[in-house]
Amino acid sequence: VALARRAAQSAQTLEELRAAIQGFEHCELHKGARNLVFADGVPGAPLMILGESPDRDEDRAGKPFVGRAGQMLDRMLAAIDMGRDRNVYLSNILPWRTPQGRDPKPDEIAMMRPFVQRHIELAKPKVLVLFGNWSCQSLLEKRSIMRLRGNWTKAADLSCMPMVHPGYLLRNPEAKREAWADLLSVQAKLRDG
Ligand code: URA
Repeated sequence: VALARRAAQSAQTLEELRAAIQGFEHCELHKGARNLVFADGVPGAPLMILGESPDRDEDRAGKPFVGRAGQMLDRMLAAIDMGRDRNVYLSNILPWRTPQGRDPKPDEIAMMRPFVQRHIELAKPKVLVLFGNWSCQSLLEKRSIMRLRGNWTKAADLSCMPMVHPGYLLRNPEAKREAWADLLSVQAKLRDG
């Protein structure tokens, strides 16, 4: 993790950070992945969203949130008049797909955490949204999303809203009501500070 911290801190721009992750060989996940999945959307946007790990579609495309969960995310953002083409920046707490999409391991999350923290510093969002248990594990070191969601907290010195993952909403549409309430809260925070 000290090596990860050093590599992350040496990056002064998002491009350098991407290169630092590409060259980082101390996380086993890169071996099984096809592509590095770094980010999508608008760097410097007021809203940064962190997902978990890339799925099969993202691994193939080298971009976050391009599969079904990503389509759900785009619909959620459109509902509050936002989009990755305009005012949202997207990444994940792991830049590589896990083998067969298994759950990430705590040591994998811890190893890549310095890169996530540096990513946030360089992207400079006003508000952070964390999707799902594993992104809460990375930045809040807690992972009970059902208890955390809906409550503003601080991470990386920013206002941060944990939310259920859009992939979860695909399987559990009844949770859309809570997700909608959380999205409105994010919209209000971006508007009113
Ligand atoms: N799920 C995530 O958490 N991230 C992605 O990029 C795709 C699916």
